[in-house]
Amino acid sequence: MSFEEIGIDNAYRVLAPRPTIIVTSINKKGEVNAAPFSFTMPVSMNPPLIAFASVKTHDTYKNIIETEEFVINIPNEDILKELWITGEKFPYGVNEIEKASLTQIDSKKVQPPKIEECIAAIECKVHWIKGAGDHDVIVGEVLQVSVQEDSLKDGLLDVEKIRPVLHLGGVNFVVGDHLRKVE
Ligand SMILES: Cc1cc2nc3c(=O)[nH]c(=O)nc-3n(C[C@H](O)[C@H](O)[C@H](O)COP(=O)(O)O)c2cc1C
Repeated sequence: MSFEEIGIDNAYRVLAPRPTIIVTSINKKGEVNAAPFSFTMPVSMNPPLIAFASVKTHDTYKNIIETEEFVINIPNEDILKELWITGEKFPYGVNEIEKASLTQIDSKKVQPPKIEECIAAIECKVHWIKGAGDHDVIVGEVLQVSVQEDSLKDGLLDVEKIRPVLHLGGVNFVVGDHLRKVE
């Protein structure tokens, strides 16, 4: 094996496949928005904080600036096609949950709804937002976490059953059914 140098703009391509989320948000008028993101990670356990990065032009970003709440929905293989539809560019105010024929249900602690067909929902309020190059990092404080029944095994996501979706780049996703344990 030998390394070859590739352009620095490919760093995120090799930090992959990445967990993919659908962020739901609302604006002041109460209009709902949904969009996929894969620049995402937990950043603190106590308090529980989760971050994702968005460009400023996304409706998601505008809504979160306006209302300071959002929900991180965790999709799985069953709704990959729908996930892709939520990533299409619709005019501001259009509800991508409806466009993708998904179902919105009330969240417990925040105004933006969660997506019924997702395997988990993490309700967040903004902790801070800070510019980072061509994206802004949005850190959310977790207020509520819900998972579909039987999605956990021994406290961990039952990945062989629920088959989460990982983003490789562009139209390419990874849905792995191999579980490898670090001994
Ligand atoms: C799988 C996937 C992952 C994406 N990840 C990101 C991301 O991490 N950050 C970002 O700014 N845009 C990301 N995008 C692009 C946005 O989802 C897309 O531009 C969307 O239309 C934005 O919607 P909105 O304007 O309704 O918020 C991703 C798209 C896809 C399909």
